[in-house]
Amino acid sequence: MLANMTSEDMCLHYQGLLLPKETHSLQSLEFAQAFKFTDDDVIAAVYPKSGTIWMQEILPLLLNGGDLTPIHTIPNWDRVPWLEEKRLACVVDKLPTPRAMVTHFPFRLMPPSFHTSKAKVIYVMRNPKDNLVSSYYFHQMAKFLEDPGTFDEFIDKFLDGKVLFGKWTDHVKSWKNAELGDRILFITYEEMCQDLPAALRQMSDFLGRNLSEDTIQKIAQHCTFKTMKTNRMSNFSLVPKQYMDSEKSPFLRKGVPGDCKNHFSSEQLARFTSAIRKDLQSESFTLPYNL
Ligand code: A3P
Repeated sequence: MLANMTSEDMCLHYQGLLLPKETHSLQSLEFAQAFKFTDDDVIAAVYPKSGTIWMQEILPLLLNGGDLTPIHTIPNWDRVPWLEEKRLACVVDKLPTPRAMVTHFPFRLMPPSFHTSKAKVIYVMRNPKDNLVSSYYFHQMAKFLEDPGTFDEFIDKFLDGKVLFGKWTDHVKSWKNAELGDRILFITYEEMCQDLPAALRQMSDFLGRNLSEDTIQKIAQHCTFKTMKTNRMSNFSLVPKQYMDSEKSPFLRKGVPGDCKNHFSSEQLARFTSAIRKDLQSESFTLPYNL
């Protein structure tokens, strides 16, 4: 945590959500609302800690046919900017077409032009238990965020939605109920971990890219956890330690499903599972997880 700063100092309250001031401002949020989507834009919608940076590696490669130049020369935050963050205004004019972006916004905060465009969305979902664990470590390393407290306290914050971008369940519900028809592809972090080439093929087909098997394999090779960890344009090593302390926990930390097993007690698991189930009980979709 930046010296003597409270959560109120570090976060903006926006439409009922908490957003870090380090990367967001009222101007950046206004810019996002006024943003003009075009039909060939592509955006990955991802609840924080579910694979956003992974999509910032994958999307340029799928869209440019596997040219490694952007992932080796442009930091991830400028290469595939966040719709809601300050950097978008600085780089928007330099983005190649089709433009690729990411967002942590729930569906209800997407700007008017998104709705009238045919821009495509890839929604990445991660098992909320692993999501919480990843977020817990991220709060320890990201000095512009409040200390997460104990793991038990953080479980309560997560379930109450007192974390970045609100409740996990609200985020998932918002996009699952968005009725975007064939404009949206749902994929899970776990599918991507299990068979990355298959996930890339699915995304490539969805985006209307006709990529050869060789290109898919090449992209997969450059988007593994191991390779991304060594890519200084993607591993956050360009960020000064006063903002992100990778000695506390690297941004690319474990990169596997199931780390929750090493953190939740059986009581915590029961509490977590029951709260998530309750939040989703009236929904018509089913989660791809055994909570
Ligand atoms: P862990 O903390 O569990 O390791 P986000 O980018 O949304 O903040 O998500 C970060 C999480 O995605 C981290 O999870 C990170 O390691 C994981 N991740 C990023 N790239 C990955 C990859 N190529 N393979 C597997 N996991 C990846």
